[in-house]
Amino acid sequence: MRLPDSATELCDRLILGADQALRTIFADPADSGRPDPSASTATDTINDSERRKAARLMRVNHSGEVCAQALYQGQATTSRNPELRRQLQRASDEENDHLRWCAGRLQQLQANKSLLNPFWYASSFILGATAGALGDRWNLGFLAETENQVVAHLDDHLTRLPESDYASRAILEQMKQDEAGHATEAVQRGAATLPAPVRGLMRIGSRLMTQTTYWI
Ligand SMILES: [Fe+2]
Ligand SMILES: [Fe+2]
Repeated sequence: MRLPDSATELCDRLILGADQALRTIFADPADSGRPDPSASTATDTINDSERRKAARLMRVNHSGEVCAQALYQGQATTSRNPELRRQLQRASDEENDHLRWCAGRLQQLQANKSLLNPFWYASSFILGATAGALGDRWNLGFLAETENQVVAHLDDHLTRLPESDYASRAILEQMKQDEAGHATEAVQRGAATLPAPVRGLMRIGSRLMTQTTYWI
């Protein structure tokens, strides 16, 4: 594993990372000005039980975006490549829009964020930091695989959301497009293909996250 050039620089990044963590978990995400895709959708006609189901699914997606913030921050903290760090930051800004849209939709659905978010943030940050320390090819490979798995997950949620929950659907459709873009960019920049057992472990980890945050 290779660490950043100077301990001071690493310290700075860790302090910034801690600030980012607290804001991601406890504060309202910063507004980049990018329009919320759900704002221009038709009024939904979901009943109460559909609302509860949509709320659970959107809580999972909100936690997924908490994880995304942590992964990108972790990856940027240990990456030695300034250009890659900028790319990670750009993608992380888009992920922050996703976080904001999911948080807004959760409020509309009168649902709570997951109580497990601090745990998911911490574990995702460690995972991201490990990938970052392994060098660019593996870091990008981890990013591409994560985003591909997220796209598959979003497809699954689009089949499970109530048909007339237009607002949640619009958010997930835009997220899906962005996540696929992040994966493509990572591949274009030379992402390694992760070994099958690693991909399998990542799938197990995300299943654990999605199945618990659906309820808690
Ligand atoms: Fe996202
Ligand atoms: Fe993503």
